[in-house]
Amino acid sequence: MNNDIERVLITQDQIKDLLDTMATEITTKYQDQFPLVVSVLTGAMIFTGDMLKRLNFKLNLDLVDVSSYAGTNTTGRVKLIQDLKSNVQGRTVIIMEDIIDTGLTMNFLVKLLKKRGAKNIAICALLDKPARRQVDIKGDFIGFETPDEFLVGYGLDYNNLYRNLPYIGILKPTVYQK
Ligand code: IMP
Ligand code: MG
Repeated sequence: MNNDIERVLITQDQIKDLLDTMATEITTKYQDQFPLVVSVLTGAMIFTGDMLKRLNFKLNLDLVDVSSYAGTNTTGRVKLIQDLKSNVQGRTVIIMEDIIDTGLTMNFLVKLLKKRGAKNIAICALLDKPARRQVDIKGDFIGFETPDEFLVGYGLDYNNLYRNLPYIGILKPTVYQK
């Protein structure tokens, strides 16, 4: 598995530091707001789990599954695969996402949550790939701005592989150009 990685972009220790910083910022801003944390499956699962352990205040957790990717390419259409269980009306929502790429997924979710009456919505993303943005969307809490490379590990996948790498790496193009 590790042989398919061209180079490590963010090490385990660096991820820990990024999470500490983001969790401190979120705690300062949201500790008295009883937010609903919405984790975007499947990529944000590991990130969300590690973040939640750092958020020591009252919150709710819910999951949503959306998909737009096939292999290393976005299809451009976002589909809701699994909806939330919670009512978001009047709630402060923090979306936890692995990476903002074209921005289409976040755009779709923010619109949906607004339509359902969320009071305010913040986006917390571990990674941001601004070079590929197609819609004007910005994260409120971002761990790391990445170069325009296909990344795997720490939840990020290529065809549902490599999610279990503990670091974030650049996938060798030979792996997906086969
Ligand atoms: P967006 O809708 O284009 O912003 O894409 C967001 C989703 O695409 C993320 O939740 C990821 O699942 C996936 N994605 C974007 N870039 C990468 C990448 O470099 N590696 C793995 N998945 C990615
Ligand atoms: Mg995703």
